[in-house]
Amino acid sequence: MTLAASFLGGASGRLLPASITFRFFGAAAAFHVAAWLVLLLTAEQLIRYRGGLSPAVSALHLLVLGVLVTTAVGSAAQLLPVATRRALAAHWPVRLVFWMLIPGITLMCISMFFVKTRLVAAGAVLTAAGLLTFALILADNLRRAGSLPVVAAFGWAALAALVATALLGPALSLDYLTHVLDQHQVYARAHAIVAGYGFMGMLALGFSHVLVPMFALSPAPGRRAAFAGFVAAVGAVVLAAIGVIGDLPGIVTVASVLGLGAVALHLTLMVRSLKAGMRRRLGLSFILVRAAWIALPASILAGFAAYYGHAGPNGPALFGLLLLVGWLLTFLLGILQRILPFLATMHASSARSGTPARVSELASDSPLKLHAVCHAAAFGLLVFAIVRDEPGPAVLAAWIGLTGSLAFAFFAANVIRGLLPSPHTPAISHQDAR
Ligand code: HEM
Repeated sequence: MTLAASFLGGASGRLLPASITFRFFGAAAAFHVAAWLVLLLTAEQLIRYRGGLSPAVSALHLLVLGVLVTTAVGSAAQLLPVATRRALAAHWPVRLVFWMLIPGITLMCISMFFVKTRLVAAGAVLTAAGLLTFALILADNLRRAGSLPVVAAFGWAALAALVATALLGPALSLDYLTHVLDQHQVYARAHAIVAGYGFMGMLALGFSHVLVPMFALSPAPGRRAAFAGFVAAVGAVVLAAIGVIGDLPGIVTVASVLGLGAVALHLTLMVRSLKAGMRRRLGLSFILVRAAWIALPASILAGFAAYYGHAGPNGPALFGLLLLVGWLLTFLLGILQRILPFLATMHASSARSGTPARVSELASDSPLKLHAVCHAAAFGLLVFAIVRDEPGPAVLAAWIGLTGSLAFAFFAANVIRGLLPSPHTPAISHQDAR
């Protein structure tokens, strides 16, 4: 039996109401537009980013918290109960997370843009409260998970990094008021590693073990190799954080080598899974996923080179771009464009008492083609702008990225609109009682 069959067996019984899941995806699509808009206004600062509170940090966090984290929370809340075969104990905590995260991220990013330190701290604390509530939901579900131990292991590692992120982020924000951290910039760097590779990265790697075989219709990757990759990945993140905080070049080198090893193992498993799959043509979403797989090792190499000062004057910005846009954003948008219609068809099908809904009924994919072209062009131009230290191409990249994000938002809005009750289709039954 393929993983898809076992994954989907009884999945509809563990689906969250569409109104909960899709509010996260809708918010992520809106933040995506906002991130490119603020990037347009801060392009020059961003390509020369070296740290410190500035409007550029606002664009950065609109991207990482607004798009990456919001997508990850929506996907994890929905997919984890299906993957672990344990329904969430209740739905209201997920709604609560939404109502803490979205105002928190909005307040934090607006006040970062206007450099209002007290409001940055308030937004950071609210965001962290949302993240910690989500950590509790995740922990409760993982604790009861019996099947898919590899996914659960990545889930626990992501959870530990999530807690560290939710503590370090506000600590850095409060430090603008208290100035107690003697090495603010060093902690900011460690925070980027723990949040980027630890929290978001572990979730991305873990869910890949379910989603890639599910979409390719192939068996799950070998458990031993997957666990070896997991141990190497966790070791790399922990050592990188220790090495950066302690300024220990030897440890940073070991972490980078270990990280590259973990990535090599992960990608080998993923490519094998694609080759063994019954479905060969995986479409546009997997072009993005494959591009993200190239950016992941490139980000480690760039981070390593930037640490040793060999990545040019804008090395830190290049590292951030490869990690956050090249790897995480490209991967998540690739997966999101696949799971949005997939979840929508499952919801629409259950609303029609099991009659399968077709993806094409829910949304056209032309906006996705426009988005993919814009995303690739914007990313390429940003790399060029950073390497050549020229703001002009970065401004052009932001206009192109903004166009792509609007196309993606249009696609997401269409999928969501397709789920709304119409005179011709019965309303989706919301099991909101819990
Ligand atoms: C509660 C959530 C978060 C808060 C409150 C927060 C806050 C901050 C603050 C205050 C800084 C320091 C800017 C400076 O003074 O240099 C920072 C830097 C940064 N954060 Fe976050 N952050 C959060 C989550 C995240 C997440 C989830 C990611 C990535 C997925 C992330 C990525 C980064 C990056 C890349 C930097 C730049 C580090 C550097 O200067 O090298 N943050 N964050």
